[in-house]
Amino acid sequence: MTWKDFPRPLVCLAPMDGITNTAYRRIVRGLSKRTLLFSEFTSVDGLLRSERLRERMDYHPSEHPFFMQLFGNDPQAFAEVSKMVEDRGILGVDINMGCPSKKIVNSQHGSALMKDMDGACRIIESIRNACNLEVSVKTRLGWGNADNLIPFAKSLEAAGTSLVTIHGRTYRQAFKGNANWEPIYELKRNLSIPVVGNGDVQNYSDGIKKTKNLDGFMIGRSAIGNPWVFCNPSERASPSLAERVETAIRHYELLRKFQTEHRALREFRKYLGEYIQGFRHAKEQRKQLMTCEREEDFLYHMREIASWTISDSELAVAN
Ligand SMILES: Cc1cc2nc3c(=O)[nH]c(=O)nc-3n(C[C@H](O)[C@H](O)[C@H](O)COP(=O)(O)O)c2cc1C
Repeated sequence: MTWKDFPRPLVCLAPMDGITNTAYRRIVRGLSKRTLLFSEFTSVDGLLRSERLRERMDYHPSEHPFFMQLFGNDPQAFAEVSKMVEDRGILGVDINMGCPSKKIVNSQHGSALMKDMDGACRIIESIRNACNLEVSVKTRLGWGNADNLIPFAKSLEAAGTSLVTIHGRTYRQAFKGNANWEPIYELKRNLSIPVVGNGDVQNYSDGIKKTKNLDGFMIGRSAIGNPWVFCNPSERASPSLAERVETAIRHYELLRKFQTEHRALREFRKYLGEYIQGFRHAKEQRKQLMTCEREEDFLYHMREIASWTISDSELAVAN
């Protein structure tokens, strides 16, 4: 099945640097077969230079279909990297045209491409000419306002983009204020390709409410440490505490397959708070887990929490 056959609305995991690596994508896929996955962004220049970075292209077959997100501004580099992505059997590439970070924008990458419509289109055309991959774009409402959103997206469509995702904030807003979906609904009325909305979606039900005339919604921050946000609550009950801690342990173990103990323990802290939210003595447990320097201690504490939650639920049944 390709993403085009996916039921609508499309439900998407947002690309998030340091978060949506293969381990987390597998966790989300394990809970939701229909979620369209996006990798964290990776520099095309870096991918051409570094064999180590190319490990980011490794994935598990269960992740299909997913988009590998790329950033850069050299059309030729995008073409070369896209061929590598295609050779690895990945569905498509998603081009980052929305990152507001100074370092990225100063190199004319990410959000800077919103100010360079011709350059942005050359990237799409170059990928289209080099391979048969699906090309998707993730961008924002615009630089300071949404005035240029429709012409910009129409040019991307004409250049061969097959899906656009719009984060309902401008470059200037970065992450401030509330996401504004109104210009995204208006954009959809002007495009033929699928349009996905992004920004402040809390969970599946909230996404359905916000989707309106769009083709789907994308969830970022609310999904960190909460991979159940993609599940339709009428098809899947919210997870028990035991399921949450078991999933967290499995997630950690997947992360550990490609990271050192030291790095995996640190990286996992980003997800941990959310995974163990609502647990008995969560505050003290979190403090202890967040400072674990040894995997052995970390797993011991996690399993301890799991055993408490099991006895809690047994207690509930007995009562
Ligand atoms: C930690 C973090 C990392 C992010 N990394 C990326 C990235 O690599 N590529 C990208 O297009 N957006 C990135 N984003 C932005 C998200 O994809 C998304 O557009 C944004 O968080 C708004 O959606 P949300 O309100 O559901 O979080 C990142 C956001 C966060 C919080």
